[in-house]
Amino acid sequence: MATRSLFLLPGDGIGPEAMAEVRKIIAHMNDKEAAGFSTDEGLVGGCAYDAHGQAISDADMDKAMAADAVLFGAVGGPKWDAVPYEVRPEAGLLRLRKDMELFANLRPAICYPALANSSSLKQDVIEGLDILIVRELTGGVYFGEPKEIIDLGNGQKRGIDTQVYDTYEIDRISAVAFELARTRRNEVCSMEKRNVMKSGVLWNEVVTATHKERFSDVKLSHMLADAGGMQLVRWPKQFDVIVTDNLFGDMLSDIAAMLTGSLGMLPSASLGAPDAKTGKRKALYEPVHGSAPDIAGQGIANPIAMIASFAMCLRYSFNMVAEADRLEAAIAAVLDKGLRTGDIMSDGCQKITTAEMGDAILAAYAG
Ligand code: IPM
Ligand code: MG
Repeated sequence: MATRSLFLLPGDGIGPEAMAEVRKIIAHMNDKEAAGFSTDEGLVGGCAYDAHGQAISDADMDKAMAADAVLFGAVGGPKWDAVPYEVRPEAGLLRLRKDMELFANLRPAICYPALANSSSLKQDVIEGLDILIVRELTGGVYFGEPKEIIDLGNGQKRGIDTQVYDTYEIDRISAVAFELARTRRNEVCSMEKRNVMKSGVLWNEVVTATHKERFSDVKLSHMLADAGGMQLVRWPKQFDVIVTDNLFGDMLSDIAAMLTGSLGMLPSASLGAPDAKTGKRKALYEPVHGSAPDIAGQGIANPIAMIASFAMCLRYSFNMVAEADRLEAAIAAVLDKGLRTGDIMSDGCQKITTAEMGDAILAAYAG
């Protein structure tokens, strides 16, 4: 009996290759553990545009809204560089985030011991790294209005994006960060640019107030986002949980990804508010890496971020904590054995394909 519904959106580029490895794990869990996952699949990004002229169809949006969890691969590629802005591949992802109200994006950056020497940073800087970036995902400059290019009529144009945050948006994302910090090392660092931005001043005020009212047991610090980027590279282990807005979170999480050795390692979870009746959160899980069109279709992409995103899905959407722990341990075990895709390859290791990496992780999981 299927009791857990997953909607798969592999998307473009290396998305489908990475998703194929997760499908193997789902099939195994259904066969051997009676996990009861039901899966359906849709189109998002460039492939959706090719099929029906939209970055995601209304029918697929409905399925995403109805599923217990959405697994998302990647979108975009040079093929769609010239499509209209409204239907560009990324619009599909942004619509999913906005319509499903996935305001909380969790991006954990963990340095697996076996990869401590494959980062461009010194080993002692990243060894044992375990930080969590909590990125606001449905507000800020990504969605603020007006958002347009206007013709000034004098041969000049003006491009406008609007950075805007309301109290409730800052309060609810900081509450998520404080709650997660309590399950970790109990420290939150909030990052904004209050020295130049009004939204940064408000961000700082609201985080401070939420902390004082409901989370004063958690240690809170504040940092300007540019300094935060610098500190992430200088000594990332000073952080536990970082909470920040949509755009700063986008940039800081790419930096955090590289601390772990490769962009191919970082999973993410995007969560909505718990439903008032069922207590369930809408959720989408996606690797932080993009569609990597330069290596797509060659079977050499790293599927670890996608598989680790599925582990987050097990943990956050289905409360399958033991399975999530085991899947994450399987990833670490395979890396310990010296198996590597090209992006994390180093001397003395064995270079393997996407499918071989997926198989090795599944074998380690199945024990
Ligand atoms: C990310 C990506 C997206 C973003 C793009 C694909 C729209 O970079 O998830 O980090 O900017 O949020
Ligand atoms: Mg990004």
